[in-house]
Amino acid sequence: MAFKHFFLCLLLCLGILQIGNSSKLTKGGSHDIKKILVIGATGQAGSRMVKEAVDRGLQVRTFSRNTSKLSEDVKDKVEAVAGDIQNYDDVQKAVKGVDAVIVAISPRSYEDTSKYMAKGVQNVVKAMKAENVEIINVLLSVFTIMPVEEIPPFFRNAIEDQHAMLEALQKSDLKYIASCPPNFITTSFDAYEAKIGGMPGGRNFNGGVNVISLNQLGKYFIDSLSEPRYYGKLVGVRNKVVHKQGVKA
Ligand SMILES: *[C@@H]1O[C@H](CO)[C@@H](O)[C@H](O)[C@H]1NC(C)=O
Repeated sequence: MAFKHFFLCLLLCLGILQIGNSSKLTKGGSHDIKKILVIGATGQAGSRMVKEAVDRGLQVRTFSRNTSKLSEDVKDKVEAVAGDIQNYDDVQKAVKGVDAVIVAISPRSYEDTSKYMAKGVQNVVKAMKAENVEIINVLLSVFTIMPVEEIPPFFRNAIEDQHAMLEALQKSDLKYIASCPPNFITTSFDAYEAKIGGMPGGRNFNGGVNVISLNQLGKYFIDSLSEPRYYGKLVGVRNKVVHKQGVKA
């Protein structure tokens, strides 16, 4: 009798695990993420997010000024839209019908004082409200979570733009994620770690361990869209630091 129950229990548990696992692939809480928009899809970061999403079988709409810059391995697997984030109509058309949006744009120049990126994010927020899209992850910089006086003067204009992007997200009632990775490296890595409200490992931003591989950045961005605990939060993310015995990280 006990034996029978054990098996019944085992089967039920396995069943529950299976359901848990399969829903985790496509759902985040109540959110079904099937189709995403990647803005800044031809950039260093955006192109990795596109590749990750395509590899996972998501439908991907890319948004960039020049669609010819899309890499050959994804070109035929995405819906490529040409547009400018500064143009509201372009943005609204692009947002229509997607489940989540990723913004991975970079400053035009460090001298630029026009808050170009924040204006773009404001367009995206407005378009998402108009089109009833709720989930957005925006690529910010690690500088966004540093005290302003610690930031090299060279980056100040860009940081003001970053802060304005964050403010646009905070003022929206969207399920936003403001992601702050440190320097990118092209060498692949096998895991990332993310922390809500700051950088994992504290404020040692510029230590050698504080980098993120582009493959992990792509993985985190797609994972995060279906992680409700990140919604409405600033999230620090970097390559996972393995603490070896006797070695101080
Ligand atoms: C678009 O990108 C392609 C490939 O990099 C380039 O050859 C072309 O000149 C670009 N077009 C414009 C309008 O910038």
